[in-house]
Amino acid sequence: MQLLNHSREMHTAKSGCATKMPKLTIAIDGPAGSGKSSVARRVAAMLGYSYLDSGAMYRALALKALRHQVALDNESRLAELAKETHIELKAPNAEQEAAGAKNCVFLDGADVTVEIRTGEVAQAASRLATIAKVRQVLVAEQQRGGAGGGVVMEGRDIGTVVFPRAELKIFLDASPEERAERRWKEHQEKGERLTLPEVFDEVIERDKRDRERKVSPLVRAADAVLVDNTAMGIEETARLIVMLAREREKELTNIGRAR
Ligand code: CDP
Ligand code: CDP
Repeated sequence: MQLLNHSREMHTAKSGCATKMPKLTIAIDGPAGSGKSSVARRVAAMLGYSYLDSGAMYRALALKALRHQVALDNESRLAELAKETHIELKAPNAEQEAAGAKNCVFLDGADVTVEIRTGEVAQAASRLATIAKVRQVLVAEQQRGGAGGGVVMEGRDIGTVVFPRAELKIFLDASPEERAERRWKEHQEKGERLTLPEVFDEVIERDKRDRERKVSPLVRAADAVLVDNTAMGIEETARLIVMLAREREKELTNIGRAR
């Protein structure tokens, strides 16, 4: 797996000396349509951090399972599939970005950026995400990808399982109506004829499965900051998180100096 914009340390001039700012691991978790990808990507750009969309990995694997007609309850076969699959995440070019892509996803070398964003793939992803052995493989990849910090990673279990010691954890939420409407608008823009009630049902069904599964359910980590962005735009939400990140950076720098 390949990460975007990776750079491990940031140097800032302070009192004439170069001060090493610690690079954080920022975990953003939350339900479907809460704004994780848009906000995480913006936060990463503002901080000069890498961005990793863990949901894209579940989606890519789900697409492969659907294409190979692997039953979504065949746990051992899906675990094998996870092991033998190569998923790569790359930054979009200007054209892809204008078309709404937050990252480009490659499945065994083939670009599947568009194909993984359907309701069918989302549902399949949430079904195979209930399988512990599948999660083990993807979580290990995510931990490798984020090792060293300077990363904004988003998903469902980043602050609880993937990086339980992340220096900043955000639980991003919005009302179910707002989240469904956001997703519906995306489908409309792509010319897909789904109705708002259909999209609402898809989002609610997936949330329920994600929250109620036995392994790594979607839950707010005890030390995660709850950010409800129902009435907030992407930029405003990203700025708030960057502010929190700057505070954490300062705290960690001060702790480092006191040692
Ligand atoms: O990744 P997640 O499913 O949590 O959400 P997203 O894909 O980042 O956002 C879903 C849609 O909501 C996108 O079209 C965003 O542009 C939009 N959005 C918004 O309008 N206002 C926000 N505060 C966050 C996202
Ligand atoms: O963009 P959206 O929030 O709709 O979904 P996503 O982040 O692309 O994730 C698709 C599905 O993958 C989710 O519904 C979860 O079932 C699963 N997932 C997970 O279990 N753990 C993660 N860290 C990320 C995604």
